Amino acid sequence: MRDIALGAVVCAFMMLGSPACVSTESHPVEVEGLFHSEVKPVLEYYCIECHDSKSRGQYGGLSIETAREAMTTGRNSPVIVPGNPDASLLYKVLRFGHEDPLGMPPAPDKVSDEQLASVRAWIKKGAVWPAGERGRLRLPQ
Ligand code: HEC
Repeated sequence: MRDIALGAVVCAFMMLGSPACVSTESHPVEVEGLFHSEVKPVLEYYCIECHDSKSRGQYGGLSIETAREAMTTGRNSPVIVPGNPDASLLYKVLRFGHEDPLGMPPAPDKVSDEQLASVRAWIKKGAVWPAGERGRLRLPQ
């Protein structure tokens, strides 16, 4: 009962400023599906070339190649706070804009509003990211 009430409050609040009304009652399997279908392709296309385990030394110390690295590396680690996109640097950098040196991806690339909403929803719902090989990010061929 308490969870349902909290979900409704978050949802009502989100509708004011966000394209997606996100429930807090998502099932982990659903959230893993969101990772594979929407979040992973974005991070592989725009981010992994600089933020894999080999390159991270030059790029803020951050590797997002695996779930474990994404949660434990980076100058400002952790860059993902499950359930709280607004406290998650990985989400915030997508919104900064290119005038900010931490605006990601670097100019001229930019994620779309839909991609931004997917990353936000995924973090809000708990940022489920499978461990090990199944969740490993790779440069698109
Ligand atoms: C061309 C290389 C490049 C690409 C592509 C890139 N970044 Fe970065 N990233 C950097 C550099 C360089 C820094 C360090 C910037 C600084 O120190 O001001 C950084 C820093 C960061 C940080 C801060 C890490 C910390 O702990 O302080 C985050 C988060 C981040 N990037 C996320 C992303 C995301 C998400 C994407 C894809 C949408 C992305 N980056 C794409 C080069 C890149």
